[in-house]
Amino acid sequence: VAQNDEPSAVHGLRGRGVTLRPATHEDVSVLAAILNEPEVTKWWGPADPSDLEADLALADVEHFVIEVGGETAGMVQFSEETDPMYHAAGIDIALSARFQGLGHGTDAVRTLARYLLEERGHHRLTIDPAAANARAIAAYTRVGFRPVGVMRQYERGVDGEFHDGLLMEMLVDELVP
Ligand SMILES: CC(C)(COP(=O)(O)OP(=O)(O)OC[C@H]1O[C@@H](n2cnc3c(N)ncnc32)[C@H](O)[C@@H]1OP(=O)(O)O)[C@@H](O)C(=O)NCCC(=O)NCCS
Repeated sequence: VAQNDEPSAVHGLRGRGVTLRPATHEDVSVLAAILNEPEVTKWWGPADPSDLEADLALADVEHFVIEVGGETAGMVQFSEETDPMYHAAGIDIALSARFQGLGHGTDAVRTLARYLLEERGHHRLTIDPAAANARAIAAYTRVGFRPVGVMRQYERGVDGEFHDGLLMEMLVDELVP
């Protein structure tokens, strides 16, 4: 009832092949297993299930399960800057290795971006892959994100070293349908 203003997110967002539905605590173990796959920790770092459980309860980040054919394929999330001067939203995504490289990441990011732009009134979205994450950069470029610049030594990797990140942004009329 409290979320009457967000009917489409509550009932799920439909992409071409993916469905995004709000994550619940029942999804934690499956999502934590995906986040701990080496193909994902390479870019996200390791995930503690209890941290994920706590994250799901946070009001400032909305987590969605990415479903493909009824199976949990990964997670996509957004956070919003609510200060009206800087109103914008940022997206993060992780797909299980067996669902990577099939277009589902592009589909999921496009679907969430459309919701944020068309239904949540955003005019600007950001996403910040590792500068070395060529697949992520290609997928986001396909959706309409454009590189802003390299954030030097932005995030610490599993190797303990800081690595560059690429800040990308998309304005409301730049979404590639
Ligand atoms: C990054 C991620 C979301 C991309 O989703 P995906 O479903 O695997 O990617 P898609 O199949 O939608 O698209 C990949 C694009 O990258 C291209 N690509 C694949 N490998 C590539 C590489 N090594 N170098 C450059 N481009 C590459 C593909 O050709 C495709 O582009 P195209 O559609 O123009 O042909 C997904 O792989 C993932 O979750 N990876 C693990 C975690 C991660 O990296 N998260 C992102 C953190 S910002």
